[in-house]
Amino acid sequence: MELLLLLLLPGLVPAFDPITLTVGAVSVPLLTALISYSGLPCYFRECCSEEGGVNSTALQLDFDHNVFGQHLAKQVILKGLTGFMKNKNPKKPLTLSFHGWTGTGKNYVSQIVARHIYKGGMDSKFVHQFVATLHFPHAHQINNYKDQLQEWIRGNVTACERSIFIFDEVDKMHPDLIDAIKPFLDYYEQLDGVSYRKAIFIFLSNTGGEVISQLALDFWKARKEREDLQLHDVEQKLSLAIFNKKDSGFWHSSLIDKNLIDFFVPFLPLEFRHVKMCVRAELRQRNSKADEEIITKVAKEMPYYPKEERVYSVKGCKVIPTILDFYL
Ligand SMILES: *[C@@H]1O[C@H](CO)[C@@H](O)[C@H](O)[C@H]1NC(C)=O
Ligand SMILES: *[C@@H]1O[C@H](CO)[C@@H](O)[C@H](O)[C@H]1NC(C)=O
Repeated sequence: MELLLLLLLPGLVPAFDPITLTVGAVSVPLLTALISYSGLPCYFRECCSEEGGVNSTALQLDFDHNVFGQHLAKQVILKGLTGFMKNKNPKKPLTLSFHGWTGTGKNYVSQIVARHIYKGGMDSKFVHQFVATLHFPHAHQINNYKDQLQEWIRGNVTACERSIFIFDEVDKMHPDLIDAIKPFLDYYEQLDGVSYRKAIFIFLSNTGGEVISQLALDFWKARKEREDLQLHDVEQKLSLAIFNKKDSGFWHSSLIDKNLIDFFVPFLPLEFRHVKMCVRAELRQRNSKADEEIITKVAKEMPYYPKEERVYSVKGCKVIPTILDFYL
């Protein structure tokens, strides 16, 4: 069957329309059946990857080449995501909550995750990103936003079970909006005939950034290896901090309370050596030579904290492209 398809392929490419097409003796229904059997439609047009898994080797490689200083985040995501994607009957959608200061790679990692599920990554029609201050800026329109957001989630998951929703700046999101998405995250088999159990929800926030920084700094001061920092060292302190924080506490505590978050993903503050790695990766991406002098100069341009020790980059790896432009 596949051989036949290969023979047909050249003729198919210019005018692909399985309804009106008849090629030689092959009837239309047969051709249509052949095409869907082969997965060919997904070659021409993006498909919802309902059964597609994630290649964990490729994901690991991508992480290792492009994400620096985040051994915990890599570990949690790799385990959580591949496990979920392999599971044919998940009991609830996958919910990941990314925590850490700006510039530590939360957005970047969410893009990588999207790309390993859908080739188009963030441009895929099955990947939806919402930025609190951009999409839901006005408190007085909260009821409209709520209805709209629920409608979007319902509509998109109806069209594709394996939809990905990324919420950025969750700490700035109105609590009512969090409430509006809560039912979708729960253990329901269906809501109004739609199952949300294969969807993926990723929440990004700065909440807990302080606690994570402090933990890393304590480790550093005790002259312990950063890579020896374990998830359980962070997890408990992180959830406590999230619970207690007033401004962002409401949404998170209600999600934690009901165990709706599957994985807390801590993003550690970045050291000078990680910033250098980011610069090197940026140079590689631009096909520029890895000039060590420039790399060090750019990394030294960045501000570091705390005041005395100057261990961690205030902006993580953010703005590196801009500084690099100046030097090249
Ligand atoms: C998974 O990714 C690795 C590394 O990119 C590649 O060598 C391998 O062929 C991939 N496996 C599958 C099943 O696609
Ligand atoms: C899917 O979500 C997008 C926003 O990302 C929205 O514009 C679109 O209308 C939604 N589709 C459906 C079918 O609800």
